[in-house]
Amino acid sequence: MSIISVKNLTYAYNEGLEDEVVAIDNVSFDVNEGEFIALVGSNGSGKSTLARLLNGLYKPTKGLVTVRGFDTADRAFTFDVRSTVGVVFQNPDNQMVATIIEDDIAFGPENLGIEPAEIDRRVDWALECVGMKEHRKGTPFRLSGGQKQRIAIAGVLAIKPKVLVLDEATAMLDPRGKKEVMDTVERIRSSEDMTVIMITHFPEEAARADRVIALDRGRIVIDEPSRSALSDVERLRSFGLDAPLPARVAHTLRRNGIAIDKDVISAEELKEALCRLK
Ligand SMILES: Nc1ncnc2c1ncn2[C@@H]1O[C@H](COP(=O)(O)OP(=O)(O)OP(=O)(O)O)[C@@H](O)[C@H]1O
Ligand SMILES: [Mg+2]
Repeated sequence: MSIISVKNLTYAYNEGLEDEVVAIDNVSFDVNEGEFIALVGSNGSGKSTLARLLNGLYKPTKGLVTVRGFDTADRAFTFDVRSTVGVVFQNPDNQMVATIIEDDIAFGPENLGIEPAEIDRRVDWALECVGMKEHRKGTPFRLSGGQKQRIAIAGVLAIKPKVLVLDEATAMLDPRGKKEVMDTVERIRSSEDMTVIMITHFPEEAARADRVIALDRGRIVIDEPSRSALSDVERLRSFGLDAPLPARVAHTLRRNGIAIDKDVISAEELKEALCRLK
């Protein structure tokens, strides 16, 4: 069942002015409940703009975005939309609002007018989800980047969204922080049955998703299961995107006459495909 529906969506910054930028250009797609989608595209292709359109932070210039059937352009549904689609942004420092972690996490549900006892339960649950329960009374400032981003994710989880959108949530983290956040997202996805839309520049992260949507200059150019999307090295390259390293290795070998499987995207698969060659 579709939880988000996007129909002929166009979004222009500075509409009608000399410096108008059409950031999203007539885009349509549905997000089904429980899906894990990677949203990819080169710099300026419109990914962050789309993220903000999905939770009603921006209203469409043309077209329609509905979340559980609610039109995001209708102010009467702001609550329904914002409480269904939660967005985590790139820089965890810009997302911290309080000096004590539990207050920070309570901020979202407080804004939605949730009652205190329920907020308390949600703070507990959200911290548990991201594996940071023991930090409840602590301050976010001394945490590592990965831990801060997990707190930011907890802050969004406390809204109890059905859809979690991560806008390059791992971009500023070191490899360990990246892994912490990715593992956290996968754990939440399986235990809470959450729909996840992950914006990423890292093809290896995109490979964890079920489906890949690629944007190029505001348009959808690929919308396919991740395997076919990420193994087509040449097509990705034509949009300024990299395939995962194992897919690139397989591609190079194939071009050199080695009969290796076409749809390799993970290191494990590459290893198996190489072993089968003998
Ligand atoms: N506030 C703004 N005013 C005017 N133009 C903007 C604004 N924000 C973004 N844009 C333009 O809209 C287009 C899409 O930007 P957006 O930030 O959505 O891309 P992105 O895919 O998220 O890029 P990145 O990979 O760099 O994060 C770009 O051309 C960008 O310059
Ligand atoms: Mg962006």
